[in-house]
Amino acid sequence: MEVIICPTERRVGEIGAAKVAQIAQTVGPGVVLGVATGSSPLATYAELAALVATGELDLSQASAFALDEYVGLPYTHRQSYHDTIRRTVTEPLGLDPSRVHVPDGLAPEGAGERYEAAIRDAGGVDIQILGVGTNGHVGFNEPTSSLASRTRIKTLAPRTLKDNARFFDSIADVPKHCITQGLGTIMDARHVVLVATGQGKANAIAAIIEGPITSMWPGSVLQMHQHATIVIDVAAASELALASYYQEVYANLPDWQRLDV
Ligand code: GLP
Repeated sequence: MEVIICPTERRVGEIGAAKVAQIAQTVGPGVVLGVATGSSPLATYAELAALVATGELDLSQASAFALDEYVGLPYTHRQSYHDTIRRTVTEPLGLDPSRVHVPDGLAPEGAGERYEAAIRDAGGVDIQILGVGTNGHVGFNEPTSSLASRTRIKTLAPRTLKDNARFFDSIADVPKHCITQGLGTIMDARHVVLVATGQGKANAIAAIIEGPITSMWPGSVLQMHQHATIVIDVAAASELALASYYQEVYANLPDWQRLDV
C-alpha cells in the first residue's frame, strides 16, 4: 500500500485528485472511473472538477461506475446515490450521463449480475475512488462481507445506519438495504485511491493499513491489492503505529513518483 499523509483535510482532496488525474491521463480518454459517495471524496471531486474546468483534464469520454445504491429509494430522492452521483460527479466532472452507471436499487433482482456484466463490458474499472466507513466498510461491504464478494444486496450494519442518519430526517428513514459492489469487484479495479479525513476514521484507517486482513475490517482486503493508495490527513493517521515511517518513505520517493504533500 502507498500511504500518503497530508497536513490538512484540504490537501487530501488535492492529492487525491492529482493521483486520480495522473492515472486517468496515463490510461487515456476512455478511462473507467469507480466512484464512491459519502462526504470523504467530495473534496477530491471538487479538485478534479477544477482540473476539468481549466482544461488540464478531459473526462468527456470517460465512463463511471458507482459503488453502491440504497434499495427502494426513488432516484429523485436527494440521498439516493443516483442523485448524489449526478450532483457531485457527473455534472461537475463533465461526464457523459449515458456512460455513468449506478446499481439499480429499484429493481434489485438480478441487478448485481447485470452490474458486474456492465463493468466487464466497459473493460473493467481503471481507478476506483473509495472512502471508508467508521466500521471499516468500503462501498457498503459491512463487517463479515466475503472478501471475494461481487455486487449484491446487503443489509446495513447498525453502525452505518447511525452514521448515515445525518443525511435523513431520522434514523428510521435510512433504508436498511443496499446494493453494493463486492470486495472482489473492488479488488478487480486496476488502481484504488482511498481518501479519509478526521479523527473519526483513525481506528478504521489503522485497522485496514496495519491490522490483519479480516472481513471484520473489510477495507483491510486492500492489503492484497497491487496498486492501492491511501490518502489521509494527520487526524485520520493518528492511530497508525508507523505514521512517521510512511511520511519518510513518501518524502524520499524520487520526484517523478511523488506529489508534493
Ligand atoms: C457510506 C458509503 C461509503 C462511504 C462511507 C463513508 O455509507 N456507502 O461508500 O465511503 O459510508 O462515508 P463518509 O465519507 O461520509 O464518512
